[in-house]
Formats: sequence, structure tokens, C-alpha cells
Amino acid sequence: MQLSRKIEKLFSYELLESFWEHVCRWTHPVNTRRILATLDQAEFAKLRERCPYRPNARRINRYEDAAYRLGVNVERAQDLWLDRTPPLRILDLGCGAGYFLHVCRYFGHQGLGLDTDDEPLFRGATDLLGVRRVISKIHPQVPLPDLGEKFDLVTAHRVCFHRIDRAADDDWNEWKPPDWKFFIDDVRARFLRPDGRLLLEFNPRRDGSSFFTPELRALFLAQGARIFRSKALFSVDPKVRPQFKQTGR
Ligand SMILES: C[S@@+](CC[C@H](N)C(=O)[O-])C[C@H]1O[C@@H](n2cnc3c(N)ncnc32)[C@H](O)[C@@H]1O
Repeated sequence: MQLSRKIEKLFSYELLESFWEHVCRWTHPVNTRRILATLDQAEFAKLRERCPYRPNARRINRYEDAAYRLGVNVERAQDLWLDRTPPLRILDLGCGAGYFLHVCRYFGHQGLGLDTDDEPLFRGATDLLGVRRVISKIHPQVPLPDLGEKFDLVTAHRVCFHRIDRAADDDWNEWKPPDWKFFIDDVRARFLRPDGRLLLEFNPRRDGSSFFTPELRALFLAQGARIFRSKALFSVDPKVRPQFKQTGR
């Protein structure tokens, strides 16, 4: 089969999967306004005043738009069927403002975040949302801190902790496959319950259309990941195919 044909087929398969994701959300609608109503808008307005827009921090500033961010996180939760599963224990790495864990709590789950304490906006937002978080910096080839428990789901959305520093050409030095292997092994062995899952969601790469380097994709697939657009989902056992929709324990 021609390469172009293969790409076309993959594209249409992904389109179909994406369409299915939308159908699943439509058939199980979530009232985001109700979740928005759980936020203390006056306190969030004060937080915005305390942490004003910074011209070189567009990405951080986006997190101020609570309605938009809540919508994004409701979709993330829906795609993992968290709006219709029994209560889970969830660890969110690089939890940012804490919206994902807030949405998870709305659906009856218990969550813990892990993040650095570099960003005042995230500190303030997690405080306001009452999202518990452990302050810790993730480093390559260093085990995560002991959290004293295991989880049904470990997530990392819009992962950034694999970016080490800016290289001369303004691109990022990133973790290499052995760093990822170490991290995945650590999460599997120390943080996941027997039927737990690890979800990694990536930002687009600089080409604007891909999310993984070929090496990273190969490593993730060798680790049994199910890759769907920006997301890679892992089971505890690399031989067990992970499911986005997990309806029970
Ligand atoms: C792009 S933000 C994503 C926030 C949130 N997960 C979301 O999708 O809304 C990246 C997050 O990763 C955190 N982070 C970056 N480097 C980290 C590291 N080495 N260890 C722990 N957290 C880190 C940042 O503080 C920030 O909260």
C-alpha cells in the first residue's frame, strides 16, 4: 500500500475516533455551567487582580479564563468516562490551576495534584478550588516523591515536566526515551493500583501538527500505550491494552 494511502487511512480512522469521542460526549452531556457555579467568581476576580497579565506569559494568563478551562477539563474527564465511573483516586501531575481535579471531584472522585510552586496564579487557584497538591519538581531519572498511596488513574495534561531547558535555537531540550522509560516504570510500580492507568497528554510540537517524536511514539507503543492524537494511555501491565472508557474497578 502506498505511503500516502496509509496516511490517508490513518487520518480517516483518527477522524472516525474523534467523531466517536464527540458522539460519546453528546450522548452523556455535562452541564458545565453547574460546575462553573461552584467557583467563587468574586474570589477568582480578586486573584486575577493580584496576579495581573504578564506580557510574556500568554500561556499562563489563559488559565485565568475559568469558564473556558473548565470546559476543556470537562471534556478531558468525559473522554476518560470519569462522569460515569465509580469513585476513583486520581493523581494529576503538573496540575496547574487544579481545574481538572476540581471537575473530577464534581463527578465524585478524589484527587491529589503534584506541581512546582513557581506560579502564583496556580497557587491561588488551587487554594480557591480546595485542590490538594504536593509541591515537588519532577526530574529525569529521579523517582517521584513517596505519596503513601496508589491511584486508579495518574494523569498529566499538557505535559511540561519533560522540558529541561531552552537550547540555543530556542527549542527545548527534552527527556530522551530512557528518561520516559524510567518515569513510566516508576509510575507503574509505585503509583498505580493493579488495574490503574496512566494518561499523558502532550502539547503540539513545533511543527504544529505532531505531538510525539518518532522515538517517543516507538517507546510508548513498545510500552503498550494506546495513542490517540495528543494522548498516550498506559495500563499497569504493558501487555494489557488500556481502555479510555473504563466503567468499573
Ligand atoms: C502547561 S501547564 C499544564 C497545567 C494543567 N495540567 C493543565 O493542563 O491545565 C504545565 C504544568 O506543569 C508544571 N510543571 C512544569 N515542569 C514541572 C516539573 N519539572 N515538575 C512538576 N511540575 C512541572 C507547571 O507548573 C504547570 O502546572
